[in-house]
Amino acid sequence: MYIDTLLVHGAGEDEATGATSTPIYQVSSFRHHSVGQKGGYQYSRVSNPTRHALEQQMALLEGGSRGFAFGSGMAAITAAFNLFSAGDHIVISRQLYGGTFRVLDRIFSRYGLTVSSVDFSDIEAIAEAITPVTKAIYIETPSNPTLMVTDIRKVVALAKARSVLTIADNTFMSPYLQRPITLGVDIVVHSATKFIGGHSDVTAGVVVVKDEKLAEDLHFIQMSTGGVLGPFDSWLLLRGLKTLGLRMDRQVQNAGEIAAWLRSRPEIKKMYFLGFSDHPGYELHKEQASASGNVISFDVGDVEFAHRILSNVKMCVLGDSLGGVETLVNLSDIMSHGSVPVEQKRSMGITPSLIRLSVGIEHSADIIADLKQAIERNS
Ligand SMILES: Cc1ncc(COP(=O)(O)O)c(C=O)c1O
Repeated sequence: MYIDTLLVHGAGEDEATGATSTPIYQVSSFRHHSVGQKGGYQYSRVSNPTRHALEQQMALLEGGSRGFAFGSGMAAITAAFNLFSAGDHIVISRQLYGGTFRVLDRIFSRYGLTVSSVDFSDIEAIAEAITPVTKAIYIETPSNPTLMVTDIRKVVALAKARSVLTIADNTFMSPYLQRPITLGVDIVVHSATKFIGGHSDVTAGVVVVKDEKLAEDLHFIQMSTGGVLGPFDSWLLLRGLKTLGLRMDRQVQNAGEIAAWLRSRPEIKKMYFLGFSDHPGYELHKEQASASGNVISFDVGDVEFAHRILSNVKMCVLGDSLGGVETLVNLSDIMSHGSVPVEQKRSMGITPSLIRLSVGIEHSADIIADLKQAIERNS
């Protein structure tokens, strides 16, 4: 089946009732048949039918075998890092979401997990960073917010040759546009708060794997550490997923129109958009994903001007997230990447005047009109 169909029918009907929308099993505890004879479910930290439907749906969409849903993207990413032990080492991309960098730098470092941060456009640099204790390579492609593209196939080949795992954050693309597991990646993580939910009404995270042993380990971590997604939030994601394709198509189309308009404006000094053929990652991205996505980052070269634009937008929302139905604008330097050291941010192209736009599903003319008045207003 095509992914558009799987988005609607993948989760299937509720087996008990035939309900076309998976019911919200708002329950913590399930009856045992008798002493020592458990039913299919026991306790919702371990497993819950609504969460299970979501986890299966995400596994299906990503081409994995099992999914695990958590209370936020960071909880999902933390669960993936919980696979490792003191003394282990991970090679991470220098272009990493700020929160992922922070959890490694400020929390996992205290437990003896070390990282090397390298430029992922340079495969040799990744190879050189692998040591005898390296256990994983962590990819984020395209990266947040400058949309640097990592060659998933090449990193996977390198990782397999050196017997290390690959983890990919697929938040920016969603399984609708990119499926890293089908390219050989071992573990996919998501901030489902973004496109999967799609309506800015839930924080959630998902991990998907194909390998059975990894699935067992992750389930053990999920039920032991307990940061699970609740039944209602699981249902919100199941509902959101049904329109993922429609939303994404519209967002990608809008992003193309808005990027073309922004490019025509003399105020914009630098742009990052994967729909432009002169983006350095354009060809590679086309080989591993089916469209550009909805994020456009642009630099206006002047901090005060950037602040003015963000204060002047009326319809677009100045906010921390992306991937929702509404257009969101963000100043990466102090918002999404506030916790990344300044030198690192600058080397990633994140300047104090870099604005990230997550294009929504509104009419593109209204988005352009809002940005136009925000750019042109002098106060
Ligand atoms: C690429 C990426 N990964 C992970 C996260 C963390 O997800 P959450 O905010 O749901 O914890 C984010 C949040 O912005 C993100 O952009």
